[in-house]
Amino acid sequence: MVANVKIDLTEKEMPTKWYNIQPDLPEPLPPVLHPGTHQPVTPDDLKPIFPMALIMQEVTQEPYVEIPEELQQIYRMWRPTPLQRAYRLEKALDTPAKIYYKYEGNSPAGSHKLNTALAQAYFNKKEGVKRLATETGAGQWGSALALGCQMFGLECKVYMVKVSYQQKPYRRIMMETWGAKVVPSPSTDTQAGRSILAQNPNSPGSLGISISEAIEDAVTSKDTKYSLGSVLNHVLLHQTIIGLEAKKQLEKAGVNPDIVVGCVGGGSNFAGLVLPFMKDRIKNKRIRLIAVEPEACPSLTKGTCAYDFGDTAGTTPLLKMYTLGHTFVPPGIHAGGLRYHGMAPIVSHLHKLGLIEVKAVHQTPVFQSAITFTRAEGIIPAPESAHAIKVAIDEALECKKSGQSKTILIGLSGHGHFDLGAYDEYLGGKLQDYEYPMEKVKEALVLLPKV
Ligand SMILES: Cc1ncc(COP(=O)(O)O)c(C=O)c1O
Repeated sequence: MVANVKIDLTEKEMPTKWYNIQPDLPEPLPPVLHPGTHQPVTPDDLKPIFPMALIMQEVTQEPYVEIPEELQQIYRMWRPTPLQRAYRLEKALDTPAKIYYKYEGNSPAGSHKLNTALAQAYFNKKEGVKRLATETGAGQWGSALALGCQMFGLECKVYMVKVSYQQKPYRRIMMETWGAKVVPSPSTDTQAGRSILAQNPNSPGSLGISISEAIEDAVTSKDTKYSLGSVLNHVLLHQTIIGLEAKKQLEKAGVNPDIVVGCVGGGSNFAGLVLPFMKDRIKNKRIRLIAVEPEACPSLTKGTCAYDFGDTAGTTPLLKMYTLGHTFVPPGIHAGGLRYHGMAPIVSHLHKLGLIEVKAVHQTPVFQSAITFTRAEGIIPAPESAHAIKVAIDEALECKKSGQSKTILIGLSGHGHFDLGAYDEYLGGKLQDYEYPMEKVKEALVLLPKV
């Protein structure tokens, strides 16, 4: 019998609800705190920046949340996404492991980010919001939100980290093509941006700075709310469609994964993929769920689990998370989407409870793995996603040594068509590795808010 390469779901089989991990957590999440009073935030505190539907999704204890039909219709433009068996990669590695990947790069915006961008635009639109402000690093999130806003007739303003704005014009052009207004951050459009520029006119920017700008924009502009592409519970909730689909697809193929691996920046694609497998993990310790981050931004492997701000200016509510400190300025590695100082509270909590494994890897071997992958499977992975590929390949090679035939599921969160400059540097032997020094971690942690 010829084995299937793709395990597809029909549109009818697409999940109609997102999965909420909160009621299934062995211990509840620590509360989010108000930055001024250090008391748990109330829905009213969050009202200036988010619509009520998303605030309620942030705290709901319902195990499933309905995906509105109007949103399902748009999801069907590219969902369900394929689950593919990487036969050619297995052959190239000469491994007995069975490798599958869940590919989110065929969304119109090129990554998983569109799953939540559309949902956020939808719920804002329903509550009469006319404009969304957001930040973006390398532009994956900004482009997803630009398209999400376009689909629901909202205006979109994107504060793009300056170094990416200068070095990677194509994502900016994509956002503008979808109708968004994009400025390099720090910008002169906000007080937060102006004060950073006053201290350092050449600031390259960071996600933390861009978040400060976007939040300030949301609270000071008419009919405007803020939108975040990762970290928060509602964002992770929207991404669970990835894992819910993958689970159904694996069931169709008649296999149980031994290892599920995803990259982590703020934690949304990893959580989206693994949360639907978490009940299996809690019941049966055999399944390993591995989060992979860059050595240059090692929040889970070198950070501390503490209350910290989500942004640089210290305006957001305090989240209990693994953090490198909100003053962290990331080194310029190529996986722009993985350069955030913190980590989703849900992912942080799961790590604290010992329910996930964490690994940090350098970018050179990451690109080497991306090349091995693309020469076998064809898809050029986003540098972010290639972090997951690197660890999956390591695990597959371990199987080769031990002779075990484990089933490995990779979260392939996006394509790398706008990251060819990074591939060029790697192929030209110019890519450098950077390990974030422990002294810097310690320095930044002194500035954590005292809770
Ligand atoms: C393709 C891709 N994968 C992963 C990430 C990391 O984000 P998260 O951890 O929220 O999935 C990003 C962020 O921009 C991304 O663009």
